[in-house]
Amino acid sequence: MKILGIETSCDETSASIVENGTKIISNTVFSSQEVHAKTGGIIPENAARQQITSIIPVLEKSIKKTGFDAIAVTVGPGLIGSLLVGIETARTLSYVYKKPIIPVNHLVAHIYANFLEKKQLPLFPNICLVVSGGHTDLIYMRNLKSIKYLGGTRDDAAGEAFDKTARLLKLPYPGGPSIALKAKEHSKNFLSLFPRPMIHDKNFEFSFSGLKTSVFNKVKDTKITNNLQSKFAAEVQEAIVDVLIHKTLIAVDRFKPKSLLLAGGVSANQRLREKLTEEIEKKQIKVDVYLPKLEYCTDNAAVIASCAFFNKKYIPWQKIKVNPELTITDKV
Ligand code: KG4
Ligand code: ZN
Repeated sequence: MKILGIETSCDETSASIVENGTKIISNTVFSSQEVHAKTGGIIPENAARQQITSIIPVLEKSIKKTGFDAIAVTVGPGLIGSLLVGIETARTLSYVYKKPIIPVNHLVAHIYANFLEKKQLPLFPNICLVVSGGHTDLIYMRNLKSIKYLGGTRDDAAGEAFDKTARLLKLPYPGGPSIALKAKEHSKNFLSLFPRPMIHDKNFEFSFSGLKTSVFNKVKDTKITNNLQSKFAAEVQEAIVDVLIHKTLIAVDRFKPKSLLLAGGVSANQRLREKLTEEIEKKQIKVDVYLPKLEYCTDNAAVIASCAFFNKKYIPWQKIKVNPELTITDKV
């Protein structure tokens, strides 16, 4: 079965055809990040306007190669103007091609980056850390249908912490990749300059907004040199990565899952991937670690189509609705 996925929740416009949830036939992603870099962050109207201009070219490229049996589209969470472009496109295609629509929760879809082009699919139960620009969620999946929320951020998401601290360090948007790149210029002799919020709390909650304040206080009367940028980038990254890994491994210890999955834009972070793998080896934890291919970590429609295949719920085009506030445990 071939599913056409459509993703327009934020600043990526993407269309993809995926066969049986795992095999990618096409995956076209257009990012409007250049536009947002000029304003130092996303202005929702600009993001929606970019979605409108990109959706047809992206679709044309992805559906050129083959037909499809159903249309999967992100209904939330995300920016309402951006989401609407995807939904109205799916609605029109559904009417014209007489194919059903499968609504998809964007956060759940991120998890399916671990199912794409893998010889062995992750075994259940699993623990999954979903870290994106707007969300930090730690979940326990007993099976495809059962998602138990263990904890998440009380304030800023991990990606948001990267984006906001990058801005304070005068590094370009999006902050995650900029911080990661700058941090590479620094040695791995860390001074722990920044707090590891809530790391010792015996729960699965996160809080990253204090990190931004801490960076602000340290840079406010200081000249931002290249040296300072690389040192602070490395220290900020280490603080975020330490908390994410610490809480994730507590969850692994408590729930003894068969596999551990990373997902979302921040899962593209090399330091997070490297340190998590090191810790698991060092502590001899028995769990299969799944790290998605980098291109499937950040927003793309292949994960939307994959998620739809494993969570089929058809709805007629008249019934589809956006839900910008959707959480990871909400049904669509
Ligand atoms: O999942 P995603 O593409 O979009 C949302 O659903 O939000 O995640 C985007 C977030 C941004 O905050 C971006 O800075 C972060 O992921 N990100 C990274 C890296 N690549 C993207 N953060 C850290 N290191 C990276 N390499
Ligand atoms: Zn995302």
